[in-house]
Amino acid sequence: MDSISMSVVSTLKPPTAITVAVVAVSLITGYFGFRIFRFMKHRASLRQKVSNRQAEREKNFEAVKRLAEKVGVDAVRREAIIRMTPDELRTALRQREVKCQEVLAAYVQTALAVNERLNCVTLFVLEAFDRALELDNNATDNTYDFPNMFGIPISIKESVQVRGYDQTLGYASEIGNKADDNSKVINLLLDQGFIPFALTNVPLSLLSFGCKNPIYGTTLNPFNPNRTCGGSSGGEGALIGGGGSIVGIGGDVGGSIRIPAHFSGICGIKPSHLRMTTNGLRGSIPGRPLVNASEGPMATTVDMCAKVLQGLFVKKMSKMDPYVPPVPFADDLYNSTVPLKIGYYVDDGYFPASVPVARAVEEAAEALRKKGHEVIRFQPPRIPEVFGLYFSALFIDGGCYISDRLSGDLFDPHHLQIILMPYLPKWLFAPLLNRFGPKAEPMTHVLGRTLSEQRKVYAAIEGYRHEFVKVLQSNGFDAILCPPNAGPAYEHGLPDQLAPTISYTAIFNLLDYAAGVVQYSFVNDDDIANNADFKETDHFTKILKRSISTSKGLPLGVQVAAPPYSEEVVLRVMRIIEEARDGH
Ligand SMILES: *[C@@H]1O[C@H](CO)[C@@H](O)[C@H](O)[C@H]1NC(C)=O
Ligand SMILES: *[C@@H]1O[C@H](CO)[C@@H](O)[C@H](O)[C@H]1NC(C)=O
Ligand SMILES: *[C@@H]1O[C@H](CO)[C@@H](O)[C@H](O)[C@H]1NC(C)=O
Ligand SMILES: *[C@@H]1O[C@H](CO)[C@@H](O)[C@H](O)[C@H]1NC(C)=O
Repeated sequence: MDSISMSVVSTLKPPTAITVAVVAVSLITGYFGFRIFRFMKHRASLRQKVSNRQAEREKNFEAVKRLAEKVGVDAVRREAIIRMTPDELRTALRQREVKCQEVLAAYVQTALAVNERLNCVTLFVLEAFDRALELDNNATDNTYDFPNMFGIPISIKESVQVRGYDQTLGYASEIGNKADDNSKVINLLLDQGFIPFALTNVPLSLLSFGCKNPIYGTTLNPFNPNRTCGGSSGGEGALIGGGGSIVGIGGDVGGSIRIPAHFSGICGIKPSHLRMTTNGLRGSIPGRPLVNASEGPMATTVDMCAKVLQGLFVKKMSKMDPYVPPVPFADDLYNSTVPLKIGYYVDDGYFPASVPVARAVEEAAEALRKKGHEVIRFQPPRIPEVFGLYFSALFIDGGCYISDRLSGDLFDPHHLQIILMPYLPKWLFAPLLNRFGPKAEPMTHVLGRTLSEQRKVYAAIEGYRHEFVKVLQSNGFDAILCPPNAGPAYEHGLPDQLAPTISYTAIFNLLDYAAGVVQYSFVNDDDIANNADFKETDHFTKILKRSISTSKGLPLGVQVAAPPYSEEVVLRVMRIIEEARDGH
């Protein structure tokens, strides 16, 4: 009996354990298999959406090409239109020497050619041709009151709401979610007489200063296809820098207008968020009350940027969006001839600017002095400490929102660090980043935190804003001159490795200052030679130095900034620098 029960037990027991194990293993594999199956199926359906969109894009290009051909502008006339400066074009349009339709056709055809080279346009706005015709017809009336920007074609960053088009931000899952209304900024541009004609490329999620997404691909730099045009308003930078548009609208939460302007050799300004409506702007992370994106102009000339803001900073903006204080554009500040006192720096104490970028800033400082302004070197306070606050404020939710958005879409392997951000405990994540040296430390501040920690972050940002104002006031500075980034345009993919170099732009998002960039110089042979002496202090400076060694010929911008509501002062300084560049 004993031996029987023993044998029963012994024959029963092992199978039970095995069965349990087998059931458990198959449940687990089944679960994960199902998850993986669902994930793959989801990705396959997103890929299908992308390929449909790519076919639609081809058709859109064909359609716009036909519409432009129908207008019938020959090569000579097209060339003449494209060669006009923004001011000449404005005058020619008002004096009816050229029709709106002709200008539009000329710019569409040029943009198609630029796009062929740089892949910067996502879709053309086909309705632009109806609008051009309507403007031409309206202008035949002798009593017609020409709006300020009558008939000027304008390109628009893909993330800005334009009726009838989707703002994908590079997410395949957003394809087809068409806006049923324009953003407030677009409506104000229409009031001014502009013709929105092309939508331009952005990096997936907008949180990059490169320009690549799974729907529309990679946008190239107009000066060197091996380099990035910058981001996130990268398509704008490339299209305008490449000659396919004279003015566009970008958006900026850490340098997204200013970095592409610098990388692609144009100018652009990010107004203070306080002064600009964000109604209808699809941001990378919605709802960030202290560090927020603002739309702003990018253009071939500083004056064009000024004219755009002149048309946006009107009473109507505050009527449309009552959260924006009514502060109209002050022509007298922009045109003033009173000498200015400007503080400048080439090293923010966190990430030293590369040789060519530092040279451009020094030369711009000298040019301002020659024009009678006082330009004095100063050190911005505590950048290495406060740069972390920027990341804290941007990822106030510990990165949850952005992680969810990316993980549900066609992300690249390099996005894994963002996707995993909210799931890794600080004791694991921080050392992973910190092994790249002290410059990586601010980025560890994205990690999830308690409400009371968040409140402290906000208090610290507010404190820093007052501290910075005090530095400006005690020195009597009207504006700041500094680099727009530590380097000129990087090789594709490098922006994702060089996030610390955005300290130069992000600081003015943290402060919510007006900040703009204007092209001033190009990387030359001396810069390449002097780069040999640039100190490689860590992982990041090593990458930067290597990138500079092959950067000859790339454009170099300089950045100008000033406290909120002094956009006019920033534009004025930018224009003086531009005039000096052009030998005036
Ligand atoms: C053309 O004129 C009509 C009538 O005044 C007006 O309703 C319309 O908005 C104008 N079109 C444009 C594009 O300005
Ligand atoms: C781009 O890279 C390719 C391959 O490395 C090289 O042959 C080419 O000269 C580069 N182009 C420029 C403009 O630097
Ligand atoms: C910040 O910008 C987003 C758009 O990205 C907007 O939804 C949000 O309302 C803005 N926050 C404030 C306080 O304006
Ligand atoms: C000031 O600037 C505005 C707009 O840029 C221009 O229309 C105006 O003529 C200028 N005034 C002077 C006095 O230069």
